[in-house]
Parts: sequence; C-alpha cells; structure tokens
Amino acid sequence: MRIYDIETLAVRAGIARSQFNEHSEALYLTSSFVFENAAQAAARFQGNEPGNIYSRFTNPTVTAFQERLAALEGAEACVATASGMSAILATTMALLKSGDHVVSSSGVFGATVQLLNNVLSKFGIETSYVDKADAAAWKAALRPNTRLLYLETPSNPLTEVFDITALAHLAHDTGALLVVDNCFCTPILQRPLDLGADLVIHSATKYLDGQGRVLGGAVLGKRELVMDGIYGFLRTAGPSLSPFNAWVLLKGLETLGIRMEAQSRSALELARWLETHPRVAKVHYPGLPSHPQHELARRQQRSGGAVVSFEVMGGREQAWRVIDSTRVISITANLGDTKTTITHPATTTHGRISAEARARAGITEGLLRVAVGLESVRDIRGDLERGLGL
Ligand SMILES: Cc1ncc(COP(=O)(O)O)c(C=O)c1O
Repeated sequence: MRIYDIETLAVRAGIARSQFNEHSEALYLTSSFVFENAAQAAARFQGNEPGNIYSRFTNPTVTAFQERLAALEGAEACVATASGMSAILATTMALLKSGDHVVSSSGVFGATVQLLNNVLSKFGIETSYVDKADAAAWKAALRPNTRLLYLETPSNPLTEVFDITALAHLAHDTGALLVVDNCFCTPILQRPLDLGADLVIHSATKYLDGQGRVLGGAVLGKRELVMDGIYGFLRTAGPSLSPFNAWVLLKGLETLGIRMEAQSRSALELARWLETHPRVAKVHYPGLPSHPQHELARRQQRSGGAVVSFEVMGGREQAWRVIDSTRVISITANLGDTKTTITHPATTTHGRISAEARARAGITEGLLRVAVGLESVRDIRGDLERGLGL
C-alpha cells in the first residue's frame, strides 16, 4: 500500500463517508446509536459485532479524528479524550497500580505535576522528578518498581529537549514504558513513536485545533496498550471527546502542517531578535545554536517549534511590564493558537506548584513564554519592544 505524505494524511486520513456522500466530514452529534433489533444490541454490547453503541465508547466523528491523528503520528491506535489532562489521567490510571513508581521530567506542565503529586499519590503511586535532560540523571532515578518514564519535549515552558531514543532504551531495559507529551511539536515536527516511545500524549487543545476553540486530548501507540488499557478506562470512566470538538479538531488537522511551519519560522526570527536585546538575559528556543540541546533538536525535530521563552532583566516587575504593554499579543494561558499568546509561567500555569519545585524546574520570576502565532513577526516584535524598552 502506498504511504502518503504527512500533509496529505492531515487532510485525507480517517474519512468514512455516509450514505449522503458528503465532501466535508460529517458531524454525528448524537449520544447513542439505534440497533435494528434486540439481537443486534446484544451482539454489539458483547463485542461480537462491530458498530457504534453510545458516544462515551465510540462516535464516527471521534473515530475519524482518531484515525487521522493516528496516521499522522504513525500509531497503530489512538483514543481521543475530553482534554489533554484527561489523556494523561486515562494513561496513568490504566497502566499504573498501587506500588508503582513514575520518573518524570520536572519540566512538565504544572497540572501534570499536580496530577502526579496530588491525585496519583492517593492511590499509592509515587513520582520522582529529574531536572536534567541527560540520560544518566534519568538512570539514577530508576527503581525496581518504575513503570513509566514521562516527559514533554520540548518542555513547557523552558523548551528543554530530551533524547527520546536514549530514554526509550533506558525505559525498556528496566521494563518500563516511555510516554511523551508531543504537544509542542505535533507529528508535523516530531514523531516520538518512530524514535522508540511507547505512547504519545496530546493536548489537542493546542496546535491540533490551532485556533483556540475547543478542548481535547489523545493517547496514541501500539494497539494493545491503547485499546486494552486506556480505551477501557475511558469507556468506564467517561472523559471522552465530544463529537463536536472532534469535528473542529479534524478541521484543525487539515491546516496543521502549514501552521506549524509558518509559526516555527516566525518563532525562530523572534528568538534571534530577542537574543540580541540588551534587556533580555536569556532566550530558550531549540532552534538557536545557543540552546543546550540544539544539536539533538536538529536530529529529532523538523524545526524548533513555535514556543519561545525568555528571561527579562528585572524579575517579575519587568516581566509583567512587558505583558501589560502588549496591544496585539493576547495575555492568556493557552498556546498553540494562530493568535500569539504571552504568559508569565511563575504566576499562572506553574503558580500552583511549590516555589521549591518551580525553582527546581527553572521557572524564574523574569521568565515569559510566547507562543508565536500567524501575525507578522514585525508586529509581534514591536509589541514586545514596547515593554522591554531600551
Ligand atoms: C504540554 C501540555 N500538556 C498537557 C496540557 C493539558 O492539556 P489540556 O489543557 O487540554 O487539558 C497542556 C496544557 O496547557 C500542555 O501545555
């Protein structure tokens, strides 16, 4: 069978036309499906006959989104969830049990840390955090009961890049699974499963939608991991993706390639400019040669991505001044939108974790995160320049 290019799959994969032969994907806004008779209902519930039953389990619009995203990530299977956090919850609840241990990067999204520390810990699952990107630090954190290695690469908000292949080997040598949150790169820039990861997590709320409209999430990987464990949890516990959101996300995927390329190009231009600015102490962007894992990012990713973080001189006061001086850029916690967004991680996305954990993760008071959108780079630069001053 001919394998199509990723741009073609983003537009064409997962289409299953109805009897009306619609061109645009149909939106099946229904909570349940009708059976022809009692015997068919019984056969469907027993799993003896394929077909839809109830939209918590399956829905054709959700299935189309799952199949399209699976094609893009090169995954055997995908389950869509109500949000990125519910994708992480479903994965951990399905694969871990009391007494298991997780090793996570300390540079993961704040709510992920909360989930590991405050929710999973109640069920006897312990997590250790690793501050560094090098495999030796991860190896030192392993225990005989380690079942999962968890990371984001590039990480949010410091854009640290982790060696997926090296960490996959490490995980497999110890009988654990490597789970990668691929939110920042999307399959357009990086395909973790090809590099050896066992599961990929998405907050579809970000670039997959790309226009800040809906919440959604997904878990992708080998069929037995995704369908036996994670899908089973979803079917029972119910954090399923709504068909409406799946339809919006399907349409988002169609433009994912051109958005990621254009937004990454602008981010690189902005990062280069910020690096020359006298009021900027440090720029975190994998596409810059000054980034500690620049060479790894070049091997692992198609580009540096669209998120640039930078530290201004003058701590929180100056960082807030930059934010409050913007006129074009949106002050909002989301990222991955066509509209450029800016956040102060220390007081927003990472505000609920302890000051100690924040310091360990390198989230300083002067740090700002910009997720570059589709506006002109000149206008984004002008917006930041106003607050940075000279
Ligand atoms: C890297 C990363 N993973 C997961 C999430 C959680 O996704 P959601 O907000 O869709 O639950 C976020 C949200 O900002 C994120 O940035």
